[in-house]
Amino acid sequence: MGAFLVEGARRLQGTVQVSGAKNSALKLMVAALLGHGAFGLDNVPRITDVYTMAGVLESLGARVNLDGHRLAIEVNSLQGHTPEHLVKSMRASVQVMGPLLARLGWVEVALPGGCAIGRRPLDIHLSGLQQMGASITLNGERLLARAPRGLRGADITFRYPSVGATENIMMAATLAKGETVIRNAAREPEIADIQAFLNAMGARIEGAGTPVIRIRGVGELGSADFAVMPDRIEAGTYLLAFLITGGEGSVCGVCPDHFSPLLNAVRSMGGEIAAEGDEVYIAAPKKLRPCAVVTSPYPGFPTDLQPQLAAAATQAQGRSELKETVFDQRFGYLSELRKLGAVVRQRGQTVAIYGPTRLKGTRLQAGDLRAGAALVLAALAAEGRSLVQGAQHIDRGYEQMEHKLQALGAQITRVELGEGGHAQ
Ligand code: EPZ
Repeated sequence: MGAFLVEGARRLQGTVQVSGAKNSALKLMVAALLGHGAFGLDNVPRITDVYTMAGVLESLGARVNLDGHRLAIEVNSLQGHTPEHLVKSMRASVQVMGPLLARLGWVEVALPGGCAIGRRPLDIHLSGLQQMGASITLNGERLLARAPRGLRGADITFRYPSVGATENIMMAATLAKGETVIRNAAREPEIADIQAFLNAMGARIEGAGTPVIRIRGVGELGSADFAVMPDRIEAGTYLLAFLITGGEGSVCGVCPDHFSPLLNAVRSMGGEIAAEGDEVYIAAPKKLRPCAVVTSPYPGFPTDLQPQLAAAATQAQGRSELKETVFDQRFGYLSELRKLGAVVRQRGQTVAIYGPTRLKGTRLQAGDLRAGAALVLAALAAEGRSLVQGAQHIDRGYEQMEHKLQALGAQITRVELGEGGHAQ
């Protein structure tokens, strides 16, 4: 297993190019299953979740080739059995339900694997598909959805603005008979990306970014060439890397509007922020002020930056408070921060972080993607050497993290660990 070896307490400086958004690219890859012919996706991040999704698409009958950051997808005939081991390894695989149900009239997926950030039911996805006429049965760990007479448009109100369910129903509705309305839809920027991509394929969707999305079904969809939006979570992660190390620098190739809640949080902590075009500059203050943040669906503070902000808050003067309202178990990284010397107290879905604490490097274990990113940030601020185990989690969503950080002056290398967990 891979790990990152970090010599901390070095101020980061420089400019980092942000990659394409993981949480858009994965969905655009799935959306291609609705169409026919040759697709080209640019600005695709080279991350393991993209490779996994490429495997899912190929198992369904599509042809996929990643050349640099351009992904070519050829879609002609498809089948609807998804490979269990791939679905278990990545929850985003359930996004294929909508497209395959709409296109083939049936789909079989394994229930997604257990996730380190809490229970993640599919009730909103499934109830939406049922309202569109699908019948869904569960045998063991496999979900079978059928709509032999095709899907029909429906007026669907979500009990919660689920990102994945919004995308799943949007995709299913593109080929349904009649109009579908999704109320209380997710408003994340990735939803606007998939709307634009589907419309480029010939779909008729409007309202992405608002709570009400309307989709008028069409007979069939073609193909499209498209560029994936920048990754707002990767951008925020690197801004927090500058902040926690007392450094200064820029993230470029970004849409600053996509992560204004993070920019506001950094400003409240005393960070200097300047957003210009597709670039955001940050300078850390001499003394970091504490923050108080509640995560919530877009346009609120993104849950995917909660662990990274908590790491930065260990360096703030005073008590910071973070409340997590999206996932029910997204504090797994706190025990690892404590190993570095952080003073953190969790009560239910709220964590208090007392700082500033001088972190001391040690051996750490990443439990999931964003927790792993938070531990790397903390290791960058800590004195001495840290070994962040679980690089495979980080590689799911960050393209070449160690190289991007090295270019900013971080002393970080990737090491392979032997059986006993010792660097080889
Ligand atoms: C997407 O997950 C992202 N993943 C997540 O990013 C992100 O944290 C999340 O949206 C929220 O922004 C991808 O896009 C691949 P949800 P998703 O459906 O679609 C509950 C990362 O680190 N829920 O909005 O799974 C669910 O349990 C990942 O990049 C139901 O109860 O998120 C959760 O508590 C982590 N029933 C909440 O809603 C459902 O049917 C948000 O889930 C669906 C969801």
